[in-house]
Amino acid sequence: MNNLAHQSLAAYDEAKQQASEQTEAFWETIASQFEWHQKWDKTLEYDFHKPEVKWFLGGKVNITENCLDRHLITQPDQTAIIFEPNDPKEAAQHISYKELHSRVCQVANMLKSNGAKKGDRICLYMPMVPELAITVLACARIGAIHSVVFAGFSAAALAARINDADCSLLVTADGGFRGAKVTPLKDIADDALTHCSTIKTSIVLKRTGQEVAWNDIDVWWHEALEEVDDNCPAEIMDSEDPLFILYTSGSTGKPKGMVHTCGGYMVYTAYSFQNVFQYKKGDIYWCTADIGWITGHSYIVYGPLAVGATTLMFEGVPSYPTYDRFWEVCAKHKVNQFYTAPTAIRALQKYPVNLVNKHDLSSLKVLGSVGEPINAEAWHWYDDHVGKNKCPIVDTWWQTETGGILITSLAGVTSQKPTYATLPMPGIQAVLLDQEGNELAGENEGILAIKHPWPSIARTIWGDHERYKNVYFSAYPGYYFPGDGALRDAKGNYRITGRVDDVVIVSGHNLGTAPIENALNEHPNVVESAVVGFSHDVKGNALHAFVIVRSRADENETIKNELRALVAKTIGPIAKPDRIQVVSGLPKTRSGKIMRRILRKLAAGEHDQLGDISTLLNPEVVEEIKRNS
Ligand code: WT7
Repeated sequence: MNNLAHQSLAAYDEAKQQASEQTEAFWETIASQFEWHQKWDKTLEYDFHKPEVKWFLGGKVNITENCLDRHLITQPDQTAIIFEPNDPKEAAQHISYKELHSRVCQVANMLKSNGAKKGDRICLYMPMVPELAITVLACARIGAIHSVVFAGFSAAALAARINDADCSLLVTADGGFRGAKVTPLKDIADDALTHCSTIKTSIVLKRTGQEVAWNDIDVWWHEALEEVDDNCPAEIMDSEDPLFILYTSGSTGKPKGMVHTCGGYMVYTAYSFQNVFQYKKGDIYWCTADIGWITGHSYIVYGPLAVGATTLMFEGVPSYPTYDRFWEVCAKHKVNQFYTAPTAIRALQKYPVNLVNKHDLSSLKVLGSVGEPINAEAWHWYDDHVGKNKCPIVDTWWQTETGGILITSLAGVTSQKPTYATLPMPGIQAVLLDQEGNELAGENEGILAIKHPWPSIARTIWGDHERYKNVYFSAYPGYYFPGDGALRDAKGNYRITGRVDDVVIVSGHNLGTAPIENALNEHPNVVESAVVGFSHDVKGNALHAFVIVRSRADENETIKNELRALVAKTIGPIAKPDRIQVVSGLPKTRSGKIMRRILRKLAAGEHDQLGDISTLLNPEVVEEIKRNS
C-alpha cells in the first residue's frame, strides 16, 4: 500500500500534475493497488448535468477483503482495532487483523441466518464499541447496505431513517455508556419500532446489562452468535453497488440518505487516509469521531483498515471522568496521529493547561481537525499545547456527501496555514464562483464548488435522485455545489468561511434549521418559527429560535422548556436551541419568504448592520425583536 503515499513535496507535486492532466490514469494507478475480483473496464463515466457519476465500471470487489483478508497474509497479528472504553477502569481491548476477520465473518453469518442478504438495508443503532465496527464490516461482507444512525438520535429520528430506507433488520444494544450517562438504546429503538413496519428482526447486543423489555422480533446478539461459525466468503460486489447509506440533514425537513458505493469509496478513503495523515506501518491512529458520522465511517473504519493501520475506537467523551481524558488516552496508547473536532478543542482549552501537560504526549506526530472551520485561537492552542509546535496540523475540509477529505494539507509534506484547510487533494478541482456562477480567479472570496468528480462522491440520495440533483447540481450547473463559502489566498490556499445555506454546524454536527422549525411548530401553542445560527465560543455555532406563540400569555419559561424537550425528542438533544425568543412576527419579504439573513444579524447582535429593511412586509417586527433581545 505504500505506493499510495506521496511522501515528499516533489512526489505530491507530481501526483497533482498527473491527477489534473490525466485524471483517469491517475486514479487507475491508485485503484490497481487494491484486490479486485475483476478489473474494471471503464474508469469513469459522468455527467454533472444529469447528474450521474460512476467509477471503475464493471469492476468486481469486496471492500472487506481489502480491509481484512489481504492483511491476513502480511500482518495477521498486527492490531487492527484498539478499543478504549468509556470507563477508564475497564480494560482496553486489542483486536488483531486475524481476530477482526474472524469476528466480522461470524457476525456476517449471524446477519445471514437472520434473513439478511445482498442489497438489504440494515440499520445500526449502537454505542461506540468494537461490535459496531464489526457489524459495519459484516454488512459489507455480505453486500447488505448499512445505515448507521448515531446513537444520540431520538426515537422519531431513528424511525424516520429506518422507514426511509425500508430497513429489514436492526442491530442495537441494551444501552450505551457515554460519560456519566447511560443511554437506553433498546428502549428508544422499541419506541421507534412502533412506527416501523419493515423491521423483521432486531438483534440486541448486551453492553450495559440493564433491564430491557423483550419483543417477538428481538434476538440476543450473544445467543445468535453461538449458532454460526466464522467461515463467510465475501459477496462479490459490483464497483457501483451501494455500500452504505448515511443520513445528513438538509435545508428541508427530511434527512438526506447519502448513498456511497463500493469501489470508488474504497479507493478514495484509503488513498486520502494514507496521504493526509502520512500513516506509517505500526503507528497508532486515533480519530475521536463517532462511527455514526461520516468521519467515523471513512476514517475510523474503512480508510485505516484498508491500509492495514491500527485504529483506536473510543467509547466515551472528552470530559469523563475528567477533562484530560483525551490526553490520558493519547499517552496510554502512545497515539501517533490524533484527529478531532474544533468544538472539542475549544471546550478543552477552557481548562487549565496542566491537564494537557501532565500527560506524556511525545508519541504524537500529526494532529487533525474536522467538522467546521477552526478559529485561530483554537488552532494555536492545539499547536502549542497538544502538538508542542512539532506536529503538523491537517485541517481537513469535506462532507458526508464527499465521502472523503477534499481540501487539506498533507501532514509534514505540504505547508499548513492556521485557519486554512489549504489545498485541494490531487484530483480535486476546486473553484470559487460568484453568485451568477462565474469562476473567480486568483485571490478571492466566493462560493466553493468542485468541477470534476472524485471516486468517493455520493452517487444519489436514497429514493430521491431528483433531490440529489436539486441540492448539489442545480444552483451552479456543471459543478458539484457543497453549500460552503470560501476564500482563497494568492497561493491557492482555501479557507472555508461557513455554510451559505440553511444548515448550521453546531459542535461539528450538521443541523438543518428546517427540521428544527418543524419540531417547534408541532407545539400546540406555536404558530410559526425560524431558527438561525449565531457564533458561540465553544460550539462554533449555536441555535437561536424565533417563535410566534398563539397568545402572549404563553410567553414564559414553561413553553421554552417544552420546546427544548420537543426538539430533543423529535431530533435529538444536539439540536436543542440555546436561545428561544418569543416574537410577534418574523421579518418577511413581500412574497412571504422569511428573511433569515436579517434574523442571523439580529441573533448575532449586529443591529446596525441589517441593511435596508424598508422593503420588508413588516419592518416593525424588526424593531420589536431588537428591543426585546
Ligand atoms: C460540513 C459537512 C466532514 C466530516 C464531518 C462533517 C463543515 C467540515 C470542515 C473544515 C471548515 C468544515 C462544512 C461542510 N466542515 N470540515 N475542516 N473546515 N468547515 O460532515 O456533517 O457532512 O458536514 O461541515 O460546512 O459542508 P458533515
